[in-house]
Amino acid sequence: MRTVMWEAEGPAVRMIDQRLLPGEVVRIDLRTVEEVSEAIRDMAVRGAPAIGATAAFGLALAAAVSEATDSDSMWNDLDSASATLSASRPTASNLVWALQRLRSRAVAAVDQSPQAIRQLLLEEAQRIADEDVETNKAMGRFGAELIGDSDTVIHHCNTGALATVDYGTALGVIRTAHEQGKRVHVLVDETRPRLQGAKLTAWELDRYGVPHEIISDNAAGYFLSRGQVAACFVGADRVAANGDVANKIGTYMLALAAWDNEVPFYVVLPTSTVDLSLSSGAEIPIEERDPREVLDLEHEGRPVAPADSKALNPAFDITPHRLISAFVTEVGVLRSPYADALAGAVRRAQEKIEAAH
Ligand code: MRU
Repeated sequence: MRTVMWEAEGPAVRMIDQRLLPGEVVRIDLRTVEEVSEAIRDMAVRGAPAIGATAAFGLALAAAVSEATDSDSMWNDLDSASATLSASRPTASNLVWALQRLRSRAVAAVDQSPQAIRQLLLEEAQRIADEDVETNKAMGRFGAELIGDSDTVIHHCNTGALATVDYGTALGVIRTAHEQGKRVHVLVDETRPRLQGAKLTAWELDRYGVPHEIISDNAAGYFLSRGQVAACFVGADRVAANGDVANKIGTYMLALAAWDNEVPFYVVLPTSTVDLSLSSGAEIPIEERDPREVLDLEHEGRPVAPADSKALNPAFDITPHRLISAFVTEVGVLRSPYADALAGAVRRAQEKIEAAH
């Protein structure tokens, strides 16, 4: 199941519309950059690596549908498409990472004709998508070493196939352990307010046959304090150079509860999520989403909040690196001190990409 892909007939960016899950599996075809940007903003596609791959295909789409006949007008079209795509969501670093990677590939090309640029951008977007799957499987193998037979783990948000091109990051680790025959059991944080855990992670775990229960986010501390949890696994949307992590709102509280109960807290991420230009988490932009995502909750068919209530809705929080037991990346498991470990991992991953070209 690929979450996002290129559809040559069209041309179009094809994706599973995650807003309709778990009820319906519907694929939508997006034929303009504006449609791709709106799909990211409205979370038809979400999850940092999936957003990155979608933006890459979005830029390839801009080139494919551009009517430019010379390289200057092609670059004008690409600049405007990049600006639209970059503005879709602010926190996940994979979005800008993917756009920059496509642009630098095209800039370095000898042949800058519009047709050559179209071809290069599509090839590079496809490469990003294919690499993502390989990266996730590598993280799965490294991370599964951290899971023992019969472990119960807590997972936050959705970091599975749906949050990536395929297979997943933190959920990919859990999936690998399960595929290796370990009897892993998952407590699925429901992940208010968008409920990615209850809607998406539970749906995926069901498909993979991994035993699990959904818990309300505020129950995690209870299970951690009773000694029932071997480890917590989460993904990341952006990691600063010192190892501070921006991830789905609620991650920080989970990390605090894990720390207090001496339960390992693991963050699983491709190196494309590391932003070495930011020295700490304080510099990571945090997306504020529509308050209606918090307020539009019904119980037994009735709205929960009083009609005139206001709400605050930060989509992500920052977990300080001191609360993190290890990072799992595609080049291995990284332990503290994180600044050197992350910089080294980014360098090694970059060298691998260069060597493959
Ligand atoms: O708002 P979302 O659903 O895009 O947030 C997704 C998350 O926070 C994930 O945990 C993160 O992207 C890592 S997913 C591989």
